[in-house]
Order: sequence, then structure tokens, then C-alpha cells
Amino acid sequence: MKYFIITGTSRGLGEAIAYKLISPDHHLICISRNINESLMAKSNNMDYLEFDLNNIEQVDTLMEKAFSKMDKANIEGVYLINNAAVISPLSRVEQGSTQEFKHNLTVNLLAPMLLTSLFIRLSQELLVEKRVLNISSSSAKHHLPGMSVYSASKAGLDVFTQCAGVEQGNNAFAVKVVSVWPGMIDTCLQEEARNTNQETFASAEIFKMVKDRGMLATPAAAAEQLVHLLLGDQFIQGNVVEELYG
Ligand SMILES: NC(=O)c1ccc[n+]([C@@H]2O[C@H](COP(=O)([O-])OP(=O)(O)OC[C@H]3O[C@@H](n4cnc5c(N)ncnc54)[C@H](OP(=O)(O)O)[C@@H]3O)[C@@H](O)[C@H]2O)c1
Repeated sequence: MKYFIITGTSRGLGEAIAYKLISPDHHLICISRNINESLMAKSNNMDYLEFDLNNIEQVDTLMEKAFSKMDKANIEGVYLINNAAVISPLSRVEQGSTQEFKHNLTVNLLAPMLLTSLFIRLSQELLVEKRVLNISSSSAKHHLPGMSVYSASKAGLDVFTQCAGVEQGNNAFAVKVVSVWPGMIDTCLQEEARNTNQETFASAEIFKMVKDRGMLATPAAAAEQLVHLLLGDQFIQGNVVEELYG
């Protein structure tokens, strides 16, 4: 059995990744604040942990619970997909509140860092394939007005990935950690960006334009590429994969 811990499976890309991974040989451990009942109905090999990643002090317990779902005598591989994220605050640096900055950086950066740390620790005894896929964004390098906190969180995630990769190295049974920019996908996150008032978020027009021009991938198409990356032989230790397609 391969075990997949996936955050942010209630909608969007995380939901599509979970659907793509459903198989009799895969056990999914899904995490989000809202339980995705339709997803749960599609598989008997699934646990759903209702959790708010802002409860950062509780992530140790969350990860211990996730690992307790695994039958240690029958593990072929174990995978963590850090997908959950928020895009807000969508405003100029001087306009964002302390609470908004904290919320973004907790969900987008601190939670995946701690989940990766716990994943490495809790899987130490498992002599199987172990991989962490961090869902990042081209916003890490391509900067737009009003997206400083989101961009900083994703740049941080990419650097964290590279550092963890250097540490883990290429020994047998090292945890491989990779970050990926999944491209622009038609999800609630995109909707929020294009529907934010242009007076506070000057880049809303760009998000409207990409939607109008049909430039957004479907979550299912992006998920297919991501699962291919996760399970394939191009999962290179410490890499930041900037081009998912091609
Ligand atoms: N869409 C794009 O164009 C695009 C482009 C580049 C990168 N990405 C990245 O792709 C990933 C998925 O984004 P998406 O577009 O699918 O966004 P989305 O549709 O807004 O979905 C976000 C997911 O994250 C979960 N989440 C948010 N806050 C959470 C919290 N406090 N605790 C637990 N779960 C939380 C949400 O579940 P609950 O609300 O139920 O908790 C939801 O399942 C993100 O990392 C995003 O940065 C997206």
C-alpha cells in the first residue's frame, strides 16, 4: 500500500489530486477544514482529518494521527503533498493587517515546513520510498502589486524545499523533497484574485484577463501532471520544478 497525506482536499487542485490518486493500492489521508463528502464517498481507502492549519501548535498531533492510520507491515511508499494555501491578503504591503500576514504565512509556509519536518521524523524507520511535494507558485519569482505576502510565502517554500533536499541528500531511503509551480488553474483561489476590488488589488485585471482568454488549466489536467511528477523518475531531490508541462 502507498500512503498519501494531502492537505487542502476540500476543493480545487487538492481535491483533483486526491481523485487522481484513488486506487485500491493507495490509501489517502486528506486534510482540510471542510470535509469533502463526495470525495470520501469515492474510496474505502481514505481517512479524512478535519483540521485548520492555523492551529499550528496541533500539527504534531495531526501528523501522529495521520501516521497512526498506516499499516506499518504493509507500506510500499509514503508521500506528503503540501497543497493547502490562501492567496489573501491581496493588497499593498502597507495595507495588510497583522492577522492577514500571520494567517497567510502560517498556512502557506509554517504549516508545510512543520508537516515536512514531522513527516521526515515519523517516517525515519520506514525503509520505503518517501517523498514530499510542495505546491508552490510562479509568484515566488514573478511579482505583481498586491501579492507580496503570497509571493514571499511561496519563495520561502521553494527555499525550504531546496534546504531540506540538501540535508536529506541521496542516500537510500532519504526523504525526497520537491517544490513545483503548477501553472494557472481554474479554482476558487483564482476567482478570489479576479474578484477582488481593483482599488485595493491593482492586479485583479490580469487575473480577469487570463480567465477571459481561456488560459487557466482545469484542476484535473494539472493534477494529472502533478501525480505523474510525484510518482515518476523526474522527482529530483531538492528541485523547484518551474515548468510542469512539456
Ligand atoms: N489556482 C492557481 O492558479 C494556482 C497557481 C499556482 C499555485 N497554486 C497553488 O495550488 C494550491 C491549491 O490552490 P487552489 O487553487 O486549489 O486553491 P483553493 O481552491 O482556494 O483551495 C485551497 C485548499 O486549501 C485548503 N485550506 C485553506 N486554508 C486552510 C486552512 N487554514 N487549513 C486547512 N486547509 C486549508 C482549503 O480547504 P478548507 O477551506 O476546507 O480548509 C482548500 O481545500 C495552493 O498551494 C496554491 O498556492 C494555485
